[in-house]
Amino acid sequence: MIGLVFDGERAAIRDDLEVRAPGPTEVRVRMVAAGLCHSDISVINGTIPWNYPCVLGHEGAGIVDAVGEAVASVAPGDHVVLHTLAFCGLCEHCVTGQPARCRRSMGNASQPFTVGGEPCWNFAGASFFSEYTVVQANQCVKVDDDIDLSVACLIGCGVLTGIGSVWNRTNLGLGDTCAVIGVGGVGLNVIQGARAKGASRIIAVDTLPEKEEFARRLGATDFILGGPGVDLPAEVRRLVPFAGPTSNLENSGPFSAGGVDYAFECVGHPKLLEAALEMLDWGGTAVAVGVPAPTETVEVRVGLLTHVERTLTGSRAGSHRPQRDIPLIVGLYKQGLIELDALVSERYPLVEWERAADDLHHGKLARGVLQISEQ
Ligand SMILES: NC(=O)c1ccc[n+]([C@@H]2O[C@H](COP(=O)([O-])OP(=O)(O)OC[C@H]3O[C@@H](n4cnc5c(N)ncnc54)[C@H](O)[C@@H]3O)[C@@H](O)[C@H]2O)c1
Ligand SMILES: [Zn+2]
Ligand SMILES: [Zn+2]
Repeated sequence: MIGLVFDGERAAIRDDLEVRAPGPTEVRVRMVAAGLCHSDISVINGTIPWNYPCVLGHEGAGIVDAVGEAVASVAPGDHVVLHTLAFCGLCEHCVTGQPARCRRSMGNASQPFTVGGEPCWNFAGASFFSEYTVVQANQCVKVDDDIDLSVACLIGCGVLTGIGSVWNRTNLGLGDTCAVIGVGGVGLNVIQGARAKGASRIIAVDTLPEKEEFARRLGATDFILGGPGVDLPAEVRRLVPFAGPTSNLENSGPFSAGGVDYAFECVGHPKLLEAALEMLDWGGTAVAVGVPAPTETVEVRVGLLTHVERTLTGSRAGSHRPQRDIPLIVGLYKQGLIELDALVSERYPLVEWERAADDLHHGKLARGVLQISEQ
């Protein structure tokens, strides 16, 4: 079978890939479609260190091909949306509704594949850029047969990371204001998550002007073109100024009052995370969503935490609970309350993945989807 394999230096389509039969609690899935998330690019460019050779792809949907003897939740022929959280279901984090904090769910590195006859790693317990993959049964969430899997494939990472970062990692509510830095596949979903909660201002920030249209389509009320020399906190306070009586600075009040209630960093640049913390009003929360290299650090003015109670927090895959949240998103999509179709800018055959990566780089995509087989 074919799949996209990273060999430690470059990624390439290989046609000598094989995957083993599912173990007792596992499922083999025929992949139908998979979204290209920036985290796949980050493995290829070395930002996210990973074992190699490995099969890339971690946001997908497909049809169950075979199940292990202990699997009762899905059966061959079922249409499934896949996710990366192979949680144990038994630990204190799982039983209190935090599967993203399950120690067993991080990485899930194993070698279910061979390439050219040699053992080959999975990526993020997923490896969806392949004709077939093997995952744990609880990574498969059944959906109705009439759902277009080339759209639903985005739910497992980009959609749930973005929406979940708002819904599960903040208290953003009706009338609150927010900024979203980096409006790719993840940031656009932060925007629609904030819109669904009734945010009054959603300020999108990106260095590519092409992104403004995508962002406004998903619910952004304002757009700031970022880049070198742009003072993002000042630009945000220009849009959401301090309105109290004691203002002595332009758009800003005591202890940097003014600015947004929430700021989401969805690029993976430490300097942008620092900017996110600086653009908050008193009591605001900055959420780290983008993933830089593991050694990167940020500088925090402690006074922003002690004097005006700002918060810096993070989000792993939107802290989602897959068996609840994937059907929830599908339901909201069917009701027209969450957009998925608008996120799919183009579909590419798997062998044309480089064209998808190039289009992503040039700002042409909300998300690019690799179509692997027919539904
Ligand atoms: N926390 C998680 O669980 C999780 C899950 C998925 C993805 N991610 C990470 O989220 C980040 C975004 O992923 P994506 O798939 O949306 O990527 P993407 O490539 O689709 O989007 C990134 C966007 O950031 C913009 N950008 C780049 N530099 C910028 C800058 N200096 N200022 C403002 N905007 C800038 C790009 O133009 C692009 O629109 C990546 O770091 C990815 O690894 C994290
Ligand atoms: Zn991802
Ligand atoms: Zn667990």
